[in-house]
Amino acid sequence: MATLSPAAALTAIHTIRDHFARRLATGRETPEVTAELANVLALLETVDFSRVDSEHLSASGHPVIQQLRQLEERRATSATRAIFQAFQPYLDALPWRYSYTPRLDAPDIGTRMAWAELVGPIAPFKSNTVCLGLTAMGPDLLYPLHTHPAVETYLVVSGTASWTATGVTRQHPPGALIVHPAHVVHAMRTTNEPLLAAYAWTGDVETLSSYV
Ligand SMILES: [Fe+2]
Repeated sequence: MATLSPAAALTAIHTIRDHFARRLATGRETPEVTAELANVLALLETVDFSRVDSEHLSASGHPVIQQLRQLEERRATSATRAIFQAFQPYLDALPWRYSYTPRLDAPDIGTRMAWAELVGPIAPFKSNTVCLGLTAMGPDLLYPLHTHPAVETYLVVSGTASWTATGVTRQHPPGALIVHPAHVVHAMRTTNEPLLAAYAWTGDVETLSSYV
């Protein structure tokens, strides 16, 4: 198993940050996306990337990595390929976790989806104002309706899935940026391919997400 060094983690984080900066610079994103990308980028400037908490950089061995075998680079667009290539060698080595309470209607969900936080309150690079990481979902899986007070930005890296927010469902392919305002109820459903998405949280990043 590859080990994720602090340097490799930083390189991978920078691929997401640089993508956000490029998207912001186009001037073609919606006002909501533009404002939140600017917010995320400004908050990332406040993170001390010279300090790393190695304990939270180590592999968790979460079974979600078995769900990602079908991830394919060709399913990342050229725009997200740099992110894919930075993380793909280290998918086994990321600190994947899943922290929702169990659901009787989806007993295996905690083994089929997870997130790996690289910047945040519980992450190798500490911040109490911004989170940055990856969300992974296996194929044919519903991530049920959930909500959190943090403002959330997703960037689809690989895999087209259905995204639902405030009752509206849309397909989002690789390269799509999705912003969930604070407390918006949202869900995702994968098709026959896994989903890998980068995410950022701002605002109240210390209150966990909960199912509704
Ligand atoms: Fe969310």
